[in-house]
Amino acid sequence: MSDTKPRILRSVRLLNAAEKRIETDFIAPPPPTTPLDTAAILKLAHEFQPVAILVTHHSPLKGADVAALPESVKLVATVSVGLDHLDVPALLARGIAVSNTPDVLTDCNADLTMMLIIAACRRAAEYYTLMKKGWGHTLGMDEMLGHRVTGKTLGIIGMGRIGQAVARRARGFEMNVLYHNRRRLDPTHEQGATYYESLEDMLPKCNILSLHLPAAPSGGPIITARTLALLPRGSVLVNAARGALVDETALIDALRSGHLFSAGLDVYQNEPNPDPRILALPNVFMTPHAGSATVETRTAMCMLALDNVTALVAGKPLPTPVTA
Ligand code: DGY
Repeated sequence: MSDTKPRILRSVRLLNAAEKRIETDFIAPPPPTTPLDTAAILKLAHEFQPVAILVTHHSPLKGADVAALPESVKLVATVSVGLDHLDVPALLARGIAVSNTPDVLTDCNADLTMMLIIAACRRAAEYYTLMKKGWGHTLGMDEMLGHRVTGKTLGIIGMGRIGQAVARRARGFEMNVLYHNRRRLDPTHEQGATYYESLEDMLPKCNILSLHLPAAPSGGPIITARTLALLPRGSVLVNAARGALVDETALIDALRSGHLFSAGLDVYQNEPNPDPRILALPNVFMTPHAGSATVETRTAMCMLALDNVTALVAGKPLPTPVTA
């Protein structure tokens, strides 16, 4: 190993292709066998003096953690598009660059969103439970019926890259797509969807509502008892963005009362230990924050994070910098 290679830390073992690249191009401690928490990252950073640290959303680096990073650290490269686990202003103020992994996970997150939409509308969780118990009786004509997805009205909150990719897929299901965003997109990016400046005006028109916006660092949830009440009775909520966007007690009430027919959730307020009241609901289809969890996408995310490190040490512009 040559000491001229950049020294890096990673909070988790990366995909094989990225681990091979680390072996060849970087100096790094052995891959962690379990994800490192923030305290472990800080301890190792002081011992190892890396130029860059690769983290995921499981290892937050907030105010005091940022202050505690050693001077050697010049880049925090998160292997995620989401940034809510990082205090970006504090990192930038310390002269530490930040990068994330946009674009490469857009398709897989949108695919998973479609899975949640279909699974929630078509009662996949209940069917799966029934089949695992052996099925055992012929279902009546009107027993355990779901709702048709084709032709329904889908509301999207947050029409960034992932929201647009979901809208594109929804068109394949002949859905009428509405969206609410801070500002209207150029029509060439709208994917045929209709813009609503007012969320309050859009919600009553949605059969299915899907969230595709980042969690605001200080803002409260966007899905609350008030916003849920504006959805039509029998609608479906899907969240593959961030758990912090949803007031889970209000969600549970809406699912229990039948105001919501069902929900499809990939993200939760308390990960990896979601509220047991959600786990107990039959009408929720759940996945474990797995929007980007494919070999192709996770490999691309790891490689992009390493590309940012390589660019930093070469004094070149970062491919995917976070600027604010
Ligand atoms: C992301 O990239 O933000 C995914 O949610 C994984 O953290």
